[in-house]
Amino acid sequence: MVAKGLDFREGDNVVITKRGVPRQPLPVGGPAAAGGGTHRGEQQPDGRVYAEDVAEAITDRTRVVAISHVQYASGYRIDLRPIADMVHKAGGYLCVDAIQSLGACRWTWQAMRIDFLSADGHKWLLGPEGCGFFYCKEDHIPMLHPNVVGWMNMNLAAITAVPV
Ligand SMILES: Cc1ncc(COP(=O)(O)O)c(C=O)c1O
Repeated sequence: MVAKGLDFREGDNVVITKRGVPRQPLPVGGPAAAGGGTHRGEQQPDGRVYAEDVAEAITDRTRVVAISHVQYASGYRIDLRPIADMVHKAGGYLCVDAIQSLGACRWTWQAMRIDFLSADGHKWLLGPEGCGFFYCKEDHIPMLHPNVVGWMNMNLAAITAVPV
């Protein structure tokens, strides 16, 4: 939703971590296709990810930092707030994969200043696989172009008003 829904410009980049979940780079094809590519923030040998590690990869053309709240391999829980502050300062957004933290630890995404968040429910939420959700900060809804559409995207009131 974010990679394909944001209006990426030539030269924009997305920041991810060096040793995140293996499929982590897949959804960021949007900016890579636009020419900016993917920058990988450092990660400590034991799996920790410090805000300073991520900061080094952020540029003034960073549109999104896409990061897992809890690292899948090490279980390390990243302090998201300083990363949110850094990417916002650079004019970008923080997009969090929370599949490994929701249900496992107490936290609020508002306090972390997260812009976008997604999670499947089949880990610590103890739900069935394939049943997940996407959160978008309300102010950002107009800037995300819907790329998966169905009847819920339609203005039904306008359609029924059309004379037949
Ligand atoms: C951090 C993280 N994100 C996502 C997933 C699930 O990936 P997908 O959405 O491709 O099923 C996992 C699975 O282990 C994971 O650890």
